[in-house]
Amino acid sequence: MWVLFHLPALLASVTLFQLAESDTNDQATCTSAISDAVNQVKIQVNKAFLDSRTRLKMAMSSERPTTRQFSEYLKHAKGRTRTAIRCGQVWEESLKRLRQKATLTNVTDPSLDLTALSWEVGCGAPVPLAKCDLNSPYRTITGDCNNRRNPALGASNRALARWLPAEYEDGLSLPFGWTRGKKRNGFPLPLAREVSNKIVAYLNEEGVLDQNRSLLSMQWGQIVDHDLDFAPDTELASSKYSKAQCDEHCIQGDNCFPIMFPRNDPKVKTQGKCMPFFRAGFVCPTPPYQSLAREQINAPTSFLDASLVYGSEPTLASRLRNLSNPLGLMAINQEAWDHRLAYPPFVNKKPSPCEFINTTARVPCFLAGDSRASEQILLATSHTLLLREHNRLARELKRLNPHWDGEKLYQEARKILGAFMQIITFRDYLPIVLGDEMEKWIPPYQGYNKSVDPRISNVFTFAFRFGHLEVPSTVFRLDENYQPWGPEAELPLHTLFFNTWRIVKDGGIDPLVRGLLAKKSKMKKQDKMMTGELRNKLFQPTHKIHGFDLAAINIQRCRDHGMPGYNSWRGFCGLSQPQTLKELHAVLKNKVLAEKLLDLYGTPDNIDIWIGGNAEPLVERGRVGPLLACILGRQFQQIRDGDRFWWENPGVFTEKQRNSLKKMSFSRLVCDNTHITKVPRHPFQANSFPHGFVDCSAIDKLDLSPWASVEN
Ligand code: HEM
Ligand SMILES: *[C@@H]1O[C@H](CO)[C@@H](O)[C@H](O)[C@H]1NC(C)=O
Ligand SMILES: *[C@@H]1O[C@H](CO)[C@@H](O)[C@H](O)[C@H]1NC(C)=O
Ligand SMILES: *[C@@H]1O[C@H](CO)[C@@H](O)[C@H](O)[C@H]1NC(C)=O
Ligand SMILES: *[C@@H]1O[C@H](CO)[C@@H](O)[C@H](O)[C@H]1NC(C)=O
Ligand SMILES: *[C@@H]1O[C@H](CO)[C@@H](O)[C@H](O)[C@H]1NC(C)=O
Repeated sequence: MWVLFHLPALLASVTLFQLAESDTNDQATCTSAISDAVNQVKIQVNKAFLDSRTRLKMAMSSERPTTRQFSEYLKHAKGRTRTAIRCGQVWEESLKRLRQKATLTNVTDPSLDLTALSWEVGCGAPVPLAKCDLNSPYRTITGDCNNRRNPALGASNRALARWLPAEYEDGLSLPFGWTRGKKRNGFPLPLAREVSNKIVAYLNEEGVLDQNRSLLSMQWGQIVDHDLDFAPDTELASSKYSKAQCDEHCIQGDNCFPIMFPRNDPKVKTQGKCMPFFRAGFVCPTPPYQSLAREQINAPTSFLDASLVYGSEPTLASRLRNLSNPLGLMAINQEAWDHRLAYPPFVNKKPSPCEFINTTARVPCFLAGDSRASEQILLATSHTLLLREHNRLARELKRLNPHWDGEKLYQEARKILGAFMQIITFRDYLPIVLGDEMEKWIPPYQGYNKSVDPRISNVFTFAFRFGHLEVPSTVFRLDENYQPWGPEAELPLHTLFFNTWRIVKDGGIDPLVRGLLAKKSKMKKQDKMMTGELRNKLFQPTHKIHGFDLAAINIQRCRDHGMPGYNSWRGFCGLSQPQTLKELHAVLKNKVLAEKLLDLYGTPDNIDIWIGGNAEPLVERGRVGPLLACILGRQFQQIRDGDRFWWENPGVFTEKQRNSLKKMSFSRLVCDNTHITKVPRHPFQANSFPHGFVDCSAIDKLDLSPWASVEN
C-alpha cells in the first residue's frame, strides 16, 4: 500500500494497474535492502510516469501541439504496455542503486538475488499468464498459447527477440554515441542527423517514382509492420530530470537522448540545437538472467493476425467491439459516415492531435487495434477498409449461420481477416519485395513447426523501415474516372500526418483508395533515399519550417536499441564483411556512397544497420538489398512456420475453406468495401488507368459457403 502512504495527492490519478501492483507489495517483506531500494525507485518512477501523462494531456488541450507533442502522442505506451515498461524502468533503476551501494559490484554476485529483485519490482505481476485452452480453434487476443510448449512466444508486451546480442556503450543500457569522445571499434560515431544530411537527403523529386510498384505496395508494408511490431517510448526514470530539459534545452540525460544538429544544419536557425528523442520502453529481464542488457518491448502480437484491427490486449479488444448486439460486429463511428459506409470510431480521449490539423473541422483521430492508426491519411484509410471487411464478413456469416452467436461470428470473421493479412502478404507483397531471393528465405510451406521461434526480432523492426524510402512526397485523390479529384487533388505528405479531416470532411476514403491503386510508390534509390516530407517535415502538419527527421530518428533508434553494426549483420546473414573502401565499394556497387559512409563512420563495422541495409543495391526483381532480404526473409519465414494458426496449417481451415480463401485479393477488398467499381487485376504493381483495370464483376469473390455449418 505504499502508493497510499507516500503519494496521497496523486491518488486520484492512480490507475487500476498501479493498485494491482501495490496489492502484490502487501505480501512482500519490507525490510531488506532490495525492497527499500525498489520502493524508493517505484515512487520516483511512478511520479515520472504520472507527470508525463498529465503533461501530454495538457499539451493536447493547447491549441497548437508541437512536433514533439505529436511524436509523443504517437509513441505513447498504454495499458499493459505501460505497466510492463514501468516495471522495466523500476528494475533497471533499482539494480543501478543497489550496485551503487558499493557492496555489490558484480551483478552476477550471488548475494544480489535477482529473483527477489524481480519479485519486489513486480516483474511477473500484475498480469498472470492466462491458462491456455489448448483446444481453442481461435487465437487469443494477446497471442499467448499459440506455442503450446512455451505459451508466451509471440505474445504481446514481451521483449523483442535478439538474433545477435545487444551492444551498448556500457554493456547494459547506454546507447553508443551517448558519451562524447567515446569510440566504437576505435572510431567516434557520427551524429545521426549528419548521416541523414549527407547520405539520405535529396532535393529533386523528379524521376523518383517506381515504374512498377503501386502506392499500395508502400502502404501494405506499413500495415504489415503495424500488425507485427511497435516499441513505444518509455518515460523518465526520475522526475528530477524533466522532459522539458530534454525538449527545450537539449540536455541529454536519463531516457532523453536528443538528436543534435550538426553546426551547419539549416534547422539550427529554426529549431535550435536538437530534435528531442526519448528512448524506447524495455521490459524486466527474465530468468535465468543470462544478460541484464536492456531489451525493448514489442507491444502487439508477433503473429500476422490482424492485431492492428483487433488490438493486442483484452480491454482494448472488447472496447473495439460492438457488444450491444449478438452480431459479432466491430464498433463503428457513430458520428460520421462515408456515403453510408462506416468509419472507425473516434478515440475517446479528447482532444486528440488530429483535431488541431484543422481547428474548424475538428475531426478527432480514429480508434483502432493499433494506436498509430491516424499517423498518416493512407494508413487511416487502410484501417477503415479492414474494419469494414470485418463487419461485412460477420454479416455474411450471420446470413449463412443464423444460429451463431456474437462471439462465434466475431471469432470466425477475425480468423478470416487474419488469413487475408497472411495471404496478401505472402502471395502478393513479399515476392515483389524479396524478388529473386523469395524462395531462398521463404520456401514453400511445409506445415507448422513448434520449434520455430515466432517472436519478432529487434533487428527486423529496423530492416522493415526500408519502407520509409518508398514513401512519395505527395498523395493524390482520384475521382470515378481516376482523374484528379477536385482542385486540391494532390497534397504534400506533411499536411496529411494525423489528418483525419481530409477523409471525414473532404471526400471519404474512395478518392484516396484510388490513389493507392493508380499512383506509384517512390523508388528506393542510393542517391535519393528519403523524401524531404519525412526527412525535414515529419509531424509538422501546420507550420512549414519545423519538423522532425525520420532518417535521423531511425539511426538514433538503432543505437537506442543496442543494435550491432552493419558487418555483424552481414556476418549473421553469411554475407561478406567489407573492411576497406574498396571492399565496401564492391558491396554497394557505388563508390561515392561507399566514400561518404566511410568518411562518416571510419569503419564499415560501425555503420548503423538501418542506413547500411538501405545503402545496398537491390536484389533482382526485388526492392531491398541482400542484407535486408535476409533479415526480412528469415523473420517472415519464422512468423509463418512458427504460427500454429497459420492459415495453411492443416486443421486451421477445412480444405474447402482454404480454396475459398485463396481467391481473396486486395482488389476484392476494395470492391466490397467502397463505392469503387473499377480496380486493377494486379494492385501491387504499377497500373495507370485504364490500363490493367477491370470491372469489379471480373474480380473473384470470397465464397463463404464452406463456412455454413451443417450441424443444427
Ligand atoms: C508516410 C508514411 C510513414 C510515416 C509517416 C512513418 C513514420 C514512422 C515513425 C514516426 C516511426 C517511429 C520512429 C521511431 O521513433 O523510432 C516509424 C516506425 C516504423 N515504421 Fe514507419 N512511417 C511510414 C511508413 C512506413 C512504411 C511504408 C513502413 C514499412 C514498409 C514502415 C515501417 C516502420 C517500422 C517497422 C517502424 C518501427 C515500428 C516499431 O517497431 O516501433 N513505416 N514510422
Ligand atoms: C562475478 O562474480 C562471479 C561469481 O562470484 C565470478 O565468477 C565472476 O568472475 C565475476 N565477474 C566479474 C566481472 O567480476
Ligand atoms: C512488374 O512487376 C511484376 C511483378 O514483379 C512482373 O511480373 C512484371 O513483369 C513487371 N513488369 C515490368 C514491365 O517490369
Ligand atoms: C452496433 O450495431 C448496431 C446494429 O448494427 C448499430 O445500430 C450500432 O450503431 C452499432 N454500434 C456501434 C458502437 O458500432
Ligand atoms: C478546414 O476544414 C474545413 C471543412 O470542415 C474546410 O472548409 C477548410 O478549408 C479547412 N481549412 C483549412 C485551413 O484547410
Ligand atoms: C523445425 O524447426 C527447427 C528449428 O528451426 C529445425 O531445426 C527443424 O529442422 C524443423 N523441423 C522440420 C520438420 O522442418
